[in-house]
Amino acid sequence: MIQRYTRTAIVLHWAIALLVLLNIALAWSWPNFLPDAQVRPAIDLHKSVGVTILGLALLRLLWRFGHRPPPFPRGYARWEVNAAHATHFLLYAILFAMPLTGWIMDSAYEHAAATPMYWFGLFQWPRLGVIMNLDPVTKKSVHDTFGAAHELISYLVYALFFIHLVGALKHQWLDRTQELQRMWPGRR
Ligand code: HEM
Repeated sequence: MIQRYTRTAIVLHWAIALLVLLNIALAWSWPNFLPDAQVRPAIDLHKSVGVTILGLALLRLLWRFGHRPPPFPRGYARWEVNAAHATHFLLYAILFAMPLTGWIMDSAYEHAAATPMYWFGLFQWPRLGVIMNLDPVTKKSVHDTFGAAHELISYLVYALFFIHLVGALKHQWLDRTQELQRMWPGRR
């Protein structure tokens, strides 16, 4: 019998996965092929999607504290179980690190006060006051440091996403365990 994640975990997993992919696609679009006039709206959308991911990641973590995930199918090698645990832990960490570094960088933007951020154009999303109120020199260095961190962590996102995907597909197709079904909506 397949032991599935709960419906909440499945919905959060796929919603977050799609939003992360969307945000990466947006981040690739503006330096590579978007016309200048669409760069600002794309960055604004990126920020709204990013803080939404932060909210969903928080829900996911709360769910995780209250629920033990279903055990791995039998027959996985010890190293595979350890690698999966480490990857999952790091994936949780980057779901927070990416939005938080982005939010801090954006709050340290020198024109942040004059260009408020709106969540999908609906309501004003707060910048971090502690950062906005720094003196201009410190603010610039916070902006550059967290901007560099945001970029650096994005490489970790690519690497972890790759490992996560290859691991799941190896179990599914080579080991022939019903791995994807565990995180796929369906009848219990
Ligand atoms: C999981 C969520 C997020 C992901 C996966 C993500 C991913 C990325 C990536 C891959 C880049 C390009 C880095 C580079 O090569 O320079 C980028 C840039 C950027 N991100 Fe994010 N990001 C996320 C959340 C956020 C949030 C929450 C904000 C702000 C509230 C934000 C603001 C920015 C800004 C301002 C840039 C640089 C734009 C420019 O080039 O001027 N990001 N992001």
